[in-house]
Amino acid sequence: MLKPNLCYQNLAESYLFSTVAKKVSAYQAANPDKPVLRLGIGDVTLPLAPAVIEAMHGAVDEMSKKETFKGYGPEQGYPFLKESIRGYYARRGVALESDEIFISDGAKSDCGNILDLFDKDNVVLVPDPVYPVYVDTNTMAGRKIIYASANKENGFLPMPDASVDADIIYICSPNNPTGASYSKAQLEKWVEYALKKNAVILYDAAYECFVTDGAVRSIYEIENAKKCAIELCSFSKTAGFTGTRCGYTVVPEALEFSGMSLRKMWLRRQTTKFNGVSYIVQKGAAAVFTPEGEKQIAENLAYYRENAKIIADCMDECGVFYTGGKNSPYIWLECPKGMTSWEFFDYLLENIQVVGTPGSGFGKNGEGFFRLTAFGSRETTLEACKRLKTLLKK
Ligand code: MLT
Repeated sequence: MLKPNLCYQNLAESYLFSTVAKKVSAYQAANPDKPVLRLGIGDVTLPLAPAVIEAMHGAVDEMSKKETFKGYGPEQGYPFLKESIRGYYARRGVALESDEIFISDGAKSDCGNILDLFDKDNVVLVPDPVYPVYVDTNTMAGRKIIYASANKENGFLPMPDASVDADIIYICSPNNPTGASYSKAQLEKWVEYALKKNAVILYDAAYECFVTDGAVRSIYEIENAKKCAIELCSFSKTAGFTGTRCGYTVVPEALEFSGMSLRKMWLRRQTTKFNGVSYIVQKGAAAVFTPEGEKQIAENLAYYRENAKIIADCMDECGVFYTGGKNSPYIWLECPKGMTSWEFFDYLLENIQVVGTPGSGFGKNGEGFFRLTAFGSRETTLEACKRLKTLLKK
């Protein structure tokens, strides 16, 4: 008789963002005359940059001709895109080999897939609050998860505790959901800890493009990080690829455990279970790194940063405590009047039709907090802030 994976019984009934979407749809169905302003899921609203679109059109044309048509591509990505990414890192002083870079359909999938490389008995250390994918994917695999407390006192940036043993360590900086970002000195401590424990850091750099104050953008800016860290990144937030799907994972050659190369294992895993990202999408992604692409993308990022500033200024005006909004598109705020995260969610939805994400959905420490995203349109952001000011200043 088939035995299902019983670990699924240990998951929350639905994925956080699906729960939020369901609640919003129910509200919308009951109140069709009150359109909601969505600042919940971190989904972009600006269209793809013209340079990306042009490159994708060119790739579609190539697919239409016998001479230039492409069938299966390399599972680990086309060399042209890997070289562009290599150049992107090199410009920031990080030297990577092309075969350390693996193209994927996004950081979320790779976050889950990478776990194929690790034994079930490893102990996983995640911050609390945290992007739910790290917890859910390890719960599905039945791994033991321990938490590093991120809270108001430590600025939502927990530091390693030498008395705690962990094998797989998740770090997301700039952080989702809190928007807090680690300094170089702090990341040096994490790398030191991982090396001491013979552990691997899974570094989620999906929001690196929002760093503006010279803070760290890649874990490989830290000395010796190539000996202990895998970096996951994405075009979703950088270039608006949430619906287009493209990301990449860096697995350095130097990562070896029990005589096994994680890079070789990942290559083996990807060539077996994955047939690569479509040529058309990879062509579009490569255009992100051309001079016109970079310029256009910088304009889009500036637009979202301005949204973040509008929300942060609104919180300042309302006297609400928050983190993020600076090196990050997320504003992580403390719910006013001692409300729980879901109480505040309902309060905003019912009174001003503004949707955010309840902090408790990201972990126990997120209770009493709430996340707003800067990825909405300018009109939505301005209108939401206007309504927030009226409501919260009451
Ligand atoms: C979020 O809202 O946290 C993100 O959109 C999730 C994701 O990137 O998968």
